[in-house]
Order: sequence, then C-alpha cells, then structure tokens
Amino acid sequence: MYEGISRTTAGVLTLGGVNALSLAERFGTPLYVLNEQVIRGRCSHALTALQRLNPCNRLAYAGKAFLSIAMCQLVAEEGLHLDVVSGGELHTALRAGFPLERIYFHGNNKLPDEIVYALSSGVGQIVVDNLKEIEDLNQISSQLRLASPVRVLIRVTPDVLGGTHSHIETGGASSKFGLSISRGLAMVAVRRVRKSEFLSFSGIHCHIGSQITSTKPFFTALSKVLGFARNLQAEEGVEVAEFNMGGGLGVPSTVSEEGLPFTSWAEGIVSRVTTAAREMSYASIPLVTLEPGRYIVAPAGVTLYTVGSIKVSSDGTRFVAVDGGMGDNPRPALYNASYEAVLVGRDQRGLHLRDGRADVVTLVGKYCESGDVLVRDAHLTGIAPGDIVAVLGTGAYNFSMASNYNRLPRPAMVFVSEGASHLVVRRETYDDIVARDLPISRQTGRGSVAGNS
Ligand code: LLP
Repeated sequence: MYEGISRTTAGVLTLGGVNALSLAERFGTPLYVLNEQVIRGRCSHALTALQRLNPCNRLAYAGKAFLSIAMCQLVAEEGLHLDVVSGGELHTALRAGFPLERIYFHGNNKLPDEIVYALSSGVGQIVVDNLKEIEDLNQISSQLRLASPVRVLIRVTPDVLGGTHSHIETGGASSKFGLSISRGLAMVAVRRVRKSEFLSFSGIHCHIGSQITSTKPFFTALSKVLGFARNLQAEEGVEVAEFNMGGGLGVPSTVSEEGLPFTSWAEGIVSRVTTAAREMSYASIPLVTLEPGRYIVAPAGVTLYTVGSIKVSSDGTRFVAVDGGMGDNPRPALYNASYEAVLVGRDQRGLHLRDGRADVVTLVGKYCESGDVLVRDAHLTGIAPGDIVAVLGTGAYNFSMASNYNRLPRPAMVFVSEGASHLVVRRETYDDIVARDLPISRQTGRGSVAGNS
C-alpha cells in the first residue's frame, strides 16, 4: 500500500525520494507529508479505469478528505472533477482557479449564503439532499437571474449499510443524508426539480459510506438506485443522464492488508448501469461518476513526529509520547482507526536505533486526554527521545479534521515529489492561535455584546 516509501542504505526512511529526517529538520514536526506522484498516479489510474469503459465517465475527488489550494490545482491538472461540501471548500477551489463546471456542491444542510455563493460563482452541479433545498435553490436562482437552469442531482438514500464504522455509514434507513427512495421522497424531489423553470434534473447521486472494504454493499445500493430509475422512467418518462455513486472505497490501514481494487469497483458499477440502461431502452448510455476521497490521498500521506517522553505505566504498558496526537489525527479516537508507525532512521545524534529488540509500545500524543492514542501496538524497536517517527497512510481525514485542541498549532503540510519538497500549507503559529480572540471590554469590565453598549 505504501508507494513511494523506501529506505536509504543507512536505513533512513525516504518519502518521494526525500530523506524524511531532513524533512523533519527543515520543516519541523509534527509534519504532514504528501507524495504528489502517488496522488497523481492514483488519480490517473482511477480516471483511466473509468473512462476506458465510457469516455464520458467522471472521477470527482472528494475534497473533504484533504483540501488546500495546491491540492485543488493538482486535481484540476489531473482532469478530475471536485466534490465540495461547504462554502469554505468552495472558496478554496475558487481561490485555486478550479474549473467551476467541474464542481459538485454537496451537503445535507446547505446554508442560503452557501447556495448564493455557489450559484453566483457558477458551480456546475448541485447535489440536492432535501426538499427545503429545492425551495431555496428556486428562490435564490430566480433572484440571481441566472442565464441557464442550475444542474441538479438528487441524492437518494437506498436503505443499504456499507458494513463500516457506524459514524461513517450514510446509506442506511436511519441516515441523515439524502432523500429516501422507499418513503417516496426521492420521487417527490425529482418531480419538483423537473417542474422548476430554474432547475434542470441532471442525475441521481448515492453515497452509502466510507472505508467500505467489500464491493457487495455498493452493488446492492446500486440495484436500489436502478430500481428507482426504472420507476422514474415508468412514472415520469425520464431517463437518468448521470449516476453518481459517491465514494467510500476502503483502503488498507497497515502494510499487510489488501485494498479493494478501484477497477473492480468501477467496472462493477459501470457494467450494471450500462446493462440496466439497455434493458430500459435508454436513448443514450448514462455517464457514471465516482467520487473517492480516501482512495486518492490516504496512502500518499505520512505524518512525522518527534519522540519526547517514554514511560512504563503500572500495568507495564510502554508509552512513547510524540509532539502531536489527536489534534492532527483524531481518527483512532473517533473511529478506532488503526495505523502503522515506523522509525525514520538514525536520530540526529547518530545513535543506531535498530538494536534488534522487538519493542511493542503504545504511541501516544501530547493532548490532555487518555483517548489520545495514535497507534496502540507500535513495533518501534530501540526508540529514544529525539527520534523521528513516521505514522503511515495519514493522507485522508487527518489534516482536514485537525483541531486546535489544547491550543496547539496545527502542523504544516509538505508535498514531496521526485526528490524535491515544497511547503503547501504553513505551520500555525502561537499568534495564529490568538488571532481571532478579542479582549474583554476594558470600559465595562464585563464582556460587551455588540449593539448593547
Ligand atoms: N462523496 C460523498 C457524498 C461523501 O460524503 C464522501 C465522504 C465521499 C464522497 C468520499 O468518501 P471516501 O472515498 O473518502 O471514503 N471522517 C471520516 C470519513 C467521512 C467521510 C464523509 N463523506 C473518516 O475519517 O473516516
């Protein structure tokens, strides 16, 4: 799984051909490192797999996995579409000059301001999640007097579980996402969109969850979606032009695990859609869009940390604490996610770190919480304070879910590629931490409320 990672003859880890010790020294730790070549390779592999089946098929990168201006530029260069889910993600894409027609705007509660921002900027596709949103879209597009109707996909809920962690299930009957097929809400939504002079119905969207490791739930969900398409044809005489089947393809969390191949996922979906369209005698074969996030970036990322304190607890657990933790990677605490940690090599003092002992340690962070565990059973032999440790496979949902808990500054992000490195997000400073704080009012001695003084 870990492409682009190797070791020098002296045993030092290299990432994209760059010595990881020198990265830690130059940019400091904790440090997010993303291998640009790995991301580009995965984008082009996935896009080719989809477009070999039908050149109109699309690959959209789900920006929630990791988004920055540099990432938007990279994704644009690779010819992908982009899924954004908030005004902030949209703003990032716009700042990066991402082609607007290639953006899908998602979200289960899009704020009126976000809708105005998306429509006035000319975002290509809105993925509608509820009936109120259709009213908002109608009202806002009539006010904005847009030149052409807004292209709308309807997100449907198929009542299918992905078999993943409950926090990241989105296709079940109790999901807050999408419009239920079985309750008839999805049908109501399509009818309302088709009736509107401001909207045009461009397809169906379905995303059943994340980190799914079997193709079965995806195909079960698709059969529900295709059943809905059949009803649409029978009741409304509509052909669905686009089936966007979301993301969710799982990736391995350790070197020993096997991932689900992108091609089996894509081929399984495209062939089922094509067969169904032929059976329904569609005038043209619908396009298929897939929107993976984790698959594209997770394996490309590594986080570097510096080891600080090492201690043995009363029950014999060996705790190795690093200078980051749940603030830069909340996933073990939130989803019980597992990661693999490796020593980067010799430390700066030239001590040889590999002394042959197989030490199993618990790698923890520096946050004030016992749940702040990065790797429960890390094999870090001969580890000592000052060593640099790499946690692998952290490219997805680490940076994007990072917090300032305990008022710790968030790490920098560096792209590495073919022996070169460059900073794409700078490290936060202590001044960044207090930048939004305002002092208590000196006149009253109490906090004053705007307009109330
Ligand atoms: N499309 C939609 C509509 C989504 O909601 C998501 C993820 C994706 C695509 C991309 O899913 P992926 O291919 O990355 O699995 N914070 C959680 C993951 C939440 C995923 C939310 N939606 C985690 O760290 O595991």
